[in-house]
Amino acid sequence: MVQTLTVLGLESSCDDTAAAVVRQQSGAQAEILSSVVHGQAELHSAYGGVVPEIAARAHAEKLDVCVEQALTQADIALSDLDAIAVTAGPGLIGGVISGVMCAKGLSAATGLTLIGVNHLAGHALTPRLTDGIAFPYLMLLVSGGHCQYLIAHGPEQFTRLGGTIDDAPGEAFDKTARLLGLPQPGGPSVEAEARAGDPNRFRFPRPLLDRPGCDLSFSGLKTALMRLRDQIVADKGGLTRQDRADLCAGFQRSIVDTLAEKTRRAIGLYLEVSPPAPVIAVAGGVAANTAIRSALETVSEEMGARFIAPPLALCTDNAAMIAFAGLERYRTGARDGLDLIARPRWPLDQTSPSMLGGGRKGAKA
Ligand code: KG4
Ligand code: ZN
Repeated sequence: MVQTLTVLGLESSCDDTAAAVVRQQSGAQAEILSSVVHGQAELHSAYGGVVPEIAARAHAEKLDVCVEQALTQADIALSDLDAIAVTAGPGLIGGVISGVMCAKGLSAATGLTLIGVNHLAGHALTPRLTDGIAFPYLMLLVSGGHCQYLIAHGPEQFTRLGGTIDDAPGEAFDKTARLLGLPQPGGPSVEAEARAGDPNRFRFPRPLLDRPGCDLSFSGLKTALMRLRDQIVADKGGLTRQDRADLCAGFQRSIVDTLAEKTRRAIGLYLEVSPPAPVIAVAGGVAANTAIRSALETVSEEMGARFIAPPLALCTDNAAMIAFAGLERYRTGARDGLDLIARPRWPLDQTSPSMLGGGRKGAKA
């Protein structure tokens, strides 16, 4: 039987408050009816990172506005929905609680089914939302808060092949920008500087390349960068424009090389278990980096895999991915009640917990 489902999604696990409506007829590609994102960058800019208490309060204030805008833009009423999906973790717990409470309120008032969604599953299922690809596929989540390789087998079945043991790459870009006095977010500013730089002038480490597997480490890069910067300042009294560009280029090249090699290994592992026509998809803000994206494309081509990068607005945090992940769970018969809990940590692959501590943007898994 063809069943059309319409789901409202809420996202508030980090520094974006978002609501979206997604509709899908069974067997057809999903349609994003609306997607509203209110970023909080200016609220946190003075503090050099996301301040959890400020984030939670801003989410609580903005969520109902976002829901109203998402429903208006989709031109539907709450009564047209089949379910309400909400990020129930992992993330900064105050923000996650704000979202879960808002969704519970809507569910209690309307009688609509509540579906808790793992934020990482939202990212990991995005290539199905944008490109309609079938399970299984390989996924690289690469952002300011996440970095991991996953095989997606089903809406709630993921195998984690490896990931960062400390910082996420976006975090490394942001810290580098701070150390060099460049504006936040660091990724775009470091990438812009790197364009005019010589990546071979300074030697940055290639962490964990000497070890087998797909785990990554990025925290050593900022230490290396700090040492190189301090050495130049000690030798010459300050940094020239060219010094800064060369430092950015060397730093970025290290990340590009490391991600390319680990992706090669992840595709190799995936090919051992995958059906023909393997697919690798990427999500997360760092996927916006042209050098990283083109290195990943090249590696995928070399390994005979199709490479998918969703549009940037769906790579970064948004609620369309949460609505869609909720819709996929709903189709499997999953339902949550008003006892749904908000979880600061929630690894996608329960058999392979991550080794991470909390990051600047909350727990990474
Ligand atoms: O996915 P996202 O919006 O939020 C989460 O971290 O969850 O990713 C933001 C991160 C920031 O750390 C930002 O510096 C990084 O993505 N980023 C980039 C680029 N654009 C954004 N990193 C490298 N190169 C870029 N062009
Ligand atoms: Zn995210």
